[in-house]
Amino acid sequence: MHIYLVGGAVRDALLGLPVYDKDYVVVGALPEQLLQLGYQQVGKDFPVFLHPDSKNEYALARTERKAGTGYTGFICEFGPNVTLEDDLSRRDLTINAIAQQQDGTLIDPYGGQADIAQRTLRHVSDAFIEDPLRVLRVARFAARFHQLGFSVAPETHALMQQMADSGELMSLTPERVWKETEKALACDQPQVFFEVLYHCHALAALFPELAPLWDTTDTSSEQQISALQALKYSAQLANTLEKTLTTRVACRFAVLCQTLDTDTISALCQRIKVPSEHKELALLASRWHAHIHQLGQPGLAQAEEVLALYQATDAWRRPERFAQLLLCAHADAGLAHYPQGTRLWQWFNELKTITAQPFVAQGLKGPAIGEAIFQARLERLKQILKE
Ligand code: CTP
Repeated sequence: MHIYLVGGAVRDALLGLPVYDKDYVVVGALPEQLLQLGYQQVGKDFPVFLHPDSKNEYALARTERKAGTGYTGFICEFGPNVTLEDDLSRRDLTINAIAQQQDGTLIDPYGGQADIAQRTLRHVSDAFIEDPLRVLRVARFAARFHQLGFSVAPETHALMQQMADSGELMSLTPERVWKETEKALACDQPQVFFEVLYHCHALAALFPELAPLWDTTDTSSEQQISALQALKYSAQLANTLEKTLTTRVACRFAVLCQTLDTDTISALCQRIKVPSEHKELALLASRWHAHIHQLGQPGLAQAEEVLALYQATDAWRRPERFAQLLLCAHADAGLAHYPQGTRLWQWFNELKTITAQPFVAQGLKGPAIGEAIFQARLERLKQILKE
């Protein structure tokens, strides 16, 4: 049997990027041989195994043929007769269809290295159309490698358009659509994902709710920059809030959606099963981003309104989420310096120092404590706004 490193690990190493996951393909072996060597079978549909020590994935070389509609209609063939070239030919992009022997030699029958050099995302064969998820994958790779200069080959773009127009994308499950979208939102240039999907007609099929974002006739707000520019900008904003992948994706999803109305956002989130944390932030951003632009300006802000913002967004109990909300408004404004956000945050921190303690000590009880805190904060805010 022969073992080769394949897929993303070879591609990323050739691009000089860090390699996290290593996938291997095994040629000339039977499942029993791997089981005897202590590998653990994990694939239900395909013969995929985990290495006993490294836990890396080892898949038997296979061919796939589409036998029906939808994502499940595949006939998979594997066995010692399936060659490395057969296995590589079923893969999505040439840059993902390069194999590497243990001595470092590359096997590249479909021109993946040339496409890496030319910064081209090109499909391997017409079998590309058999898997509708690939439309999303290509858009995601376009976003991920945009800064390196990659773009989609015209012939691949044409196939993606054909797939979108055929209605085949409708067979993708919401979970798969969201998973790819989530990965795309985490990229440095997330807006490219949506641009590529738009140009190949896939956006209308996958995210009909986002269609208004391409309506250039809406000039309702002069300050409003396009949602895609805001998304690009949000990814550029160096911020310490994006501590985890979840917060990064949540902020960017909210920035993308915040110019849509709340019913549309709810419908989108329900349909593609967006996690509730992301949905909540998107809904808050939609309701409040325009107010934040106004309320953060001392001349325009009324203390009652600013306090209502803190109350309505539950800022006292959820300060991290409030900071994310300010970040969304910042991205919407598209300005390098967004003093509204800084001020609302400073005021918030100042008002937060007014707590229940002194009122409890005065003997206040129950709702009277909350009312007293509210009044004290209101008075303090009025003072601040006068200063
Ligand atoms: N692959 C494919 N079609 C798919 C999914 C995967 O052809 N729909 C192939 C590609 O050759 C890909 C490999 O399987 O390189 C591994 O897939 P995956 O781990 O999902 O992606 P990577 O290319 O490794 O990229 P990432 O870094 O995003 O994991």
